[in-house]
Amino acid sequence: MARLSHKVVFAGVVIALFSGSAFAAVPGAPPKIVTTCAACHGLNGVSMVPTFPDLAAQGAPYLIKQIRDFQSHKRADPLAQSIMWGMAATIPKSKIKEVANYFASQKGAPGTPENPALVEAGRKIYMGGVASDHLPACMACHGPTGRGLPPLFPRLAGQHIAYVTTQLGYFKAKERTNDPLDIMRSIAAKLSTKQMTELAEFIRTL
Ligand code: HEC
Ligand code: HEC
Repeated sequence: MARLSHKVVFAGVVIALFSGSAFAAVPGAPPKIVTTCAACHGLNGVSMVPTFPDLAAQGAPYLIKQIRDFQSHKRADPLAQSIMWGMAATIPKSKIKEVANYFASQKGAPGTPENPALVEAGRKIYMGGVASDHLPACMACHGPTGRGLPPLFPRLAGQHIAYVTTQLGYFKAKERTNDPLDIMRSIAAKLSTKQMTELAEFIRTL
């Protein structure tokens, strides 16, 4: 009897150990490297600083592409060079997918506009483009609710205003050149600074 109960205790310990390690590998638990990213992007991918993009609910293929583009220096705008080249270099190739899937599975957070008076003008351009300038509607690629169309077209919904205007400015100045087929460079070239702000105010509300 004494032997049997030892076996039972032993089995219990083994089960506890196994379930402990199973718990550590629960899908959705942050991969270790995410603690580095959290300082700027938030542990759940919602950043508190408007110049740092939200990553939550972004399409995983887009996140993977951006991390690779930072690592290869293909995305070479000023903020990429000064911050993300160094950060991306710390992500081992074997962990890129895991990090991307983690942020992609987080819940996106809608924001509030800074200047609500500009939202309607932004909505018009986003939904309908500007025919006289041959500017296509943003919703054609980013979706009417800004959720994006994976794998190519990123989510914009709820993104920080400062981040969106900065990226549109980078595309227009041809400082960010990792967009396939010059798509965003040719679109941003047609936008005035005022239109960029209007669009960003609307996108923040999505
Ligand atoms: C010190 C702040 C900081 C840290 C830490 C940081 N980032 Fe970033 N991240 C930024 C900034 C700033 C940008 C915008 C870069 C640009 O404009 O090219 C950015 C952009 C990105 C983008 C592109 C988002 C998009 O919508 O195109 C991804 C993906 C990303 N970071 C992933 C990560 C990951 C993964 C980590 C952790 C290994 C990390 N970042 C750590 C500041 C940071
Ligand atoms: C023909 C398709 C298409 C249209 C139309 C389009 N975009 Fe994009 N957009 C893209 C693609 C593709 C990317 C991703 C580029 C990359 O892979 O780095 C992108 C990226 C972006 C980004 C950067 C996202 C990030 O997280 O860094 C912003 C901001 C953006 N688009 C805003 C707009 C706005 C505003 C409009 C309307 C004026 C618009 N786009 C119209 C295809 C499009």
